[in-house]
Amino acid sequence: MNRLSGKVALISGSTSGMGAEEAKLFAIEGAKVVVTGISKEQGLKVVDEINSRGGESLFIKLDVSSEDDWIAAIQATQKSFGKLNILINNAGVIERHSLNSTTVLTWKRVMEINSMGAFLGCKTAMPVLLKAGLGSIVNIASISGMVGVGYPAYNASKGAIRALTKIVAMEYAQMGIRVNCINPGSIETPMFDTAETEVAAQRVGRIPMGRVGQPIDVAFGALFLASDESSFITGTELVIDGGLTAC
Ligand SMILES: NC(=O)c1ccc[n+]([C@@H]2O[C@H](COP(=O)([O-])OP(=O)(O)OC[C@H]3O[C@@H](n4cnc5c(N)ncnc54)[C@H](O)[C@@H]3O)[C@@H](O)[C@H]2O)c1
Repeated sequence: MNRLSGKVALISGSTSGMGAEEAKLFAIEGAKVVVTGISKEQGLKVVDEINSRGGESLFIKLDVSSEDDWIAAIQATQKSFGKLNILINNAGVIERHSLNSTTVLTWKRVMEINSMGAFLGCKTAMPVLLKAGLGSIVNIASISGMVGVGYPAYNASKGAIRALTKIVAMEYAQMGIRVNCINPGSIETPMFDTAETEVAAQRVGRIPMGRVGQPIDVAFGALFLASDESSFITGTELVIDGGLTAC
């Protein structure tokens, strides 16, 4: 119950899916949680659920592709909760286009939200994490950034997050800030639900464990990496995919 006791966590894109699950789990484990995203209505629902169960959370609007939004969100977090210990760069979008049908506009949008969003999160939160002493950043990449299955813009954006994780981890390894990433496989969330049924069914059929993942499967991984239990772990990747990339 107290694995994040005394800590403050900001989770991007936590108005739905895995981010919302992480927000709820982190609050149960004692963290004060800043739920962020682009939908205030959805965000307030997550906040209400957390607070009605005795947790402490608030919603801040944050489009991760906007540096101004990041600066404002980090300032508001400090104002409300006094500090920040944990950042989960979770927000993301997928565009399901092959190389030939990927436009420059599509490529830019996916990169700006997925990889630039994670970069801006790391950069903007870092001074505040350093001020708090010990900090943990968890970037949500994907197995799509590891293998040649998927879509060029999405896969490249997730590969960029893996590389960003390692280089930021090295830069701050001696300053108390750990940076790791999670590479989920197929997880049943609103994003997964929009996949073409046939493609999704093919993927699920190949998962050695015989099922898709649930948001809580990823949230437990994020909890471990966010907590002090992983205090000697930085620059690493946690694959949560039911064994898919092992075969
Ligand atoms: N579901 C899967 O199978 C799967 C697999 C691997 C990785 N992922 C990654 O997990 C993360 C969470 O996705 P999910 O599966 O929970 O789906 P989701 O669609 O429920 O979550 C994505 C969240 O990001 C938010 N978002 C989109 N653009 C944003 C922006 N510009 N600023 C702020 N927030 C924005 C959405 O509103 C949403 O709340 C994403 O980064 C996704 O790429 C998902």
